[in-house]
Amino acid sequence: MLVERWHLLVERQHLLVERLHLLVERKHLLVERKHLLVERLHLLVERLHLLVERKHLLVESDSGIKWDCYILITETTTGESMASIAGKVAIITGASRGIGRAIALKLAGNGASIVVNYAGNAGKAQEVVAEIEKLGVKVGVKAIAVQADVSKVPDIQRLFEETLERFGKVDILVNNAGIAFYKPITQVSEEDFDAIFAINVKGTFFACQQAAQHISEGGRIINFSSSTTAMMLPTYSAYVGTKGAVEQITRVLAKELGAKAIAVNVISPGPTDTELFREGKTQEQIDRLAQMAAFGKLGDVQEIADVVAFLASDEARWITGQNIRVNGGIA
Ligand SMILES: NC(=O)c1ccc[n+]([C@@H]2O[C@H](COP(=O)([O-])OP(=O)(O)OC[C@H]3O[C@@H](n4cnc5c(N)ncnc54)[C@H](OP(=O)(O)O)[C@@H]3O)[C@@H](O)[C@H]2O)c1
Repeated sequence: MLVERWHLLVERQHLLVERLHLLVERKHLLVERKHLLVERLHLLVERLHLLVERKHLLVESDSGIKWDCYILITETTTGESMASIAGKVAIITGASRGIGRAIALKLAGNGASIVVNYAGNAGKAQEVVAEIEKLGVKVGVKAIAVQADVSKVPDIQRLFEETLERFGKVDILVNNAGIAFYKPITQVSEEDFDAIFAINVKGTFFACQQAAQHISEGGRIINFSSSTTAMMLPTYSAYVGTKGAVEQITRVLAKELGAKAIAVNVISPGPTDTELFREGKTQEQIDRLAQMAAFGKLGDVQEIADVVAFLASDEARWITGQNIRVNGGIA
């Protein structure tokens, strides 16, 4: 009886020792698990820091990222390479209608914020601003409309002041505003002559003067002539006189402003379908001019805006002092 009891006690003792071993093993496992949990916690904290850092970067470069995505999507879907002028500020004179409007939308589409200048058409200018703002939601560009009569020097100064106040800099000036009339020399009045030279030549000249003072290094000035300077068309003497002057001003300023790394070029469109072109012409005259182009048609505002966008881009950095005729081969 006693022996039996002793056996039971020994067996129980063995069981207790075994249980003790199990408990020690479990304790080790728990310690190991605790270490793993602490390690995992550290990894989570580290990941959290990275996420916070990434969020800050995203907030900081919100428009830049939007712009990169926009370029990527556009390039992928259209196969076109976008000449990037992202973050630049462009003043476009006479941007409420015609070629100027197309340039404003094109440069905004390429990432520049735009100053839409106009003379009297506030409604049309605001429409252009609204279109750019719609685009701005996608690519982060902004636009304002500024009334300024480019034939008046104080107006031009105010145009630049308002731009600097709003955007803090000017990178690109497109001197597009212009008027035209077609009269035999015997019918051109002094007022006609003064008015066309005041807008087309004086306006361009003094806007260039402001640009020379305020435009950033690496900036662009793009003036507007006309391919009619190469066509000797009767009744165009006053108009072509103004554009000839613009071409010469451009050549000299290219050398003068080259020291500040500002490129100055002039675009000479051929007949382009706008109000300015159609005004005072019969349908027969319009058709005749269209047929004179190698491609047998009038130019489209987009065809001019595309070349302006190229000249404004980094890809055109080695072009200055040039007269680019964008005319479908009319001259
Ligand atoms: N269309 C062509 O066939 C052709 C050919 C060769 C060269 N170009 C040249 O291309 C440029 C644009 O012509 P476009 O056909 O687009 O002309 P458009 O349709 O008549 O538009 C003229 C633009 O200039 C603005 N403007 C007129 N006088 C102004 C002034 N004193 N101050 C500020 N802005 C003024 C107008 O503003 P508002 O709307 O406020 O009046 C409008 O936005 C001109 O320099 C023109 O000589 C045109």
